Amino acid sequence: MRIDVVTIFPEYLAPLELSLIGKARQDGLLSLAVHDLREFTTDRHRTVDDTPYGGGAGMVMKPEPWAQALESVAAQPVHGNSESVPTLIVPSPAGEVFNQELAYELATEDHLVFACGRYEGIDERVLQWSAERFRVRPVSLGDYVLNGGEVAVLAMVEAVGRLLPGVIGNPESLVEESHSDGLLEYPVYTKPSSWRDRNVPETLLSGNHAKIARFRRDEQLRRTTERRPDLIRGLNMASLNTADIALLNSLGIAPNQ
Ligand code: ADE
Repeated sequence: MRIDVVTIFPEYLAPLELSLIGKARQDGLLSLAVHDLREFTTDRHRTVDDTPYGGGAGMVMKPEPWAQALESVAAQPVHGNSESVPTLIVPSPAGEVFNQELAYELATEDHLVFACGRYEGIDERVLQWSAERFRVRPVSLGDYVLNGGEVAVLAMVEAVGRLLPGVIGNPESLVEESHSDGLLEYPVYTKPSSWRDRNVPETLLSGNHAKIARFRRDEQLRRTTERRPDLIRGLNMASLNTADIALLNSLGIAPNQ
């Protein structure tokens, strides 16, 4: 996969040189470049913003530097299907909400471009114009406001990058993590089995794999019911067995349909 990030703060993206994503880049599993939007300006002051038409607070990012930058990154060579249309992710609190399903979807793409807005955002015409050469997706990290797209890009690149083949040493760890089956993950414990008067649940010490699997599934359902009732409401009934439904009933939840 190739990823290009356009920002006025390239230093913000330095953490992408570390840890798993940094290693994936070194190993050639991910090709990632960060571009300074100001390099695509033509005036002496390298201006990227201006006042909003219609009035109001703050500044808006000017269209021309963005068009120059996006034309430049769209022309970058990409491994894989050279015919495929690159996806332009525009981090914005006004976008669709990022989740694990979208991370899996983006992990199948050959070329992702992230356009980090600052101030009050990017001139809307840039998004319209971009639709001719990109699949454009405004994406939000959640219902809160950040100062710009950079932190959102760090989160999304990490969530997508770890799903690329070969990036995580043991891909089985992807199967049982939170959100992989629509539920939060079960709690985990390690040695010692007794610590400060707190014991590891006995079932986990029993060696009975069927009982352990059931215990963990119950804990997932319990935790999700308590912390994320919205996820329980959205569960696909076909993914629930009789024991799951019995557990949910014991928690006062009657899965419908
Ligand atoms: N930029 C500002 N707020 C944001 C958010 N919640 N998600 C993504 N990008 C943003």
